[in-house]
Amino acid sequence: MATRKQFTEAEHAALYNKYRPKADSKVLDKVINYLKEKKKTLNVAVDVACGSGQGTVGLAPHFKKVIGYDISTAQINEGRRTTKAENVEYDVADAENIPLPDNSVDLVTCSQAAHWFDFGAFFREVDRILTPNGVLAVYSRGDYVLVHQDADVGKELTKIYKECTWKTLAAYWNDPVHATRQNGYVDLDIPYPDFERVTMECQLDLTLTRLAGFISSFTAYQRFHRENPNDDIFTPLHARFLQALNVQTLPEETIVTTSCPISMMIGRKPDTNL
Ligand SMILES: C[S@@+](CC[C@H](N)C(=O)[O-])C[C@H]1O[C@@H](n2cnc3c(N)ncnc32)[C@H](O)[C@@H]1O
Repeated sequence: MATRKQFTEAEHAALYNKYRPKADSKVLDKVINYLKEKKKTLNVAVDVACGSGQGTVGLAPHFKKVIGYDISTAQINEGRRTTKAENVEYDVADAENIPLPDNSVDLVTCSQAAHWFDFGAFFREVDRILTPNGVLAVYSRGDYVLVHQDADVGKELTKIYKECTWKTLAAYWNDPVHATRQNGYVDLDIPYPDFERVTMECQLDLTLTRLAGFISSFTAYQRFHRENPNDDIFTPLHARFLQALNVQTLPEETIVTTSCPISMMIGRKPDTNL
């Protein structure tokens, strides 16, 4: 599968770790509250395709043990290097072959990655390892828009951002799976009777430097950069943003507000012991 070639380089994993956002508190609240509706004691959570722990570390305060799995050794090394919580561990494993016993996990999460999987095989593994009333939460961000108190400025900032991420990088988004993510996972399904689809709007303030760093962590940008190592797309991008904002500050001290939908599928394994 194409997935096995993604995020394998240490340099890309380090960029990923530096610039990809951690799970939003709205996402964590939804997942934990849903799980607690039918489970009082939370023992083990597993974050599949965890990257370097973006959705993993926020689970730590709620569980005795949290395990992050990813097929990329480089991502796992970054997670181990930078995670401080003592109840979090990381290991290399495939989403379709999770190295845990049957009925041993209260929660499985998957952030920003399920579009890369054989989803049917992944779901069968999840169903095998979840305890009765255990929960699977699969979520992903849609595209950023930039918001501003002056709506026209917000529109202009968004236009500049989209021109960079979609037009400049257009030829490098060549994995069909991105459509599944952009469609908010409507193509995927968790076949449990107790199941919800939720969309949440999440905002994040970023400096222009961090926004450029976020773009640089895209697989599409990494491909573009390999083919065009001398092309600097970020200096003109910063200049356009500063002009639209009508400010003369430095990119590292200029803050913009990003907003994006997070689409989540959340489902509970039936308790057949009842
Ligand atoms: C876009 S990153 C998401 C990382 C992190 N969960 C986040 O929220 O930012 C996708 C991750 O999925 C991993 N991945 C892709 N296919 C996988 C598979 N079949 N099994 C396990 N991990 C996989 C990649 O190595 C990569 O780290």
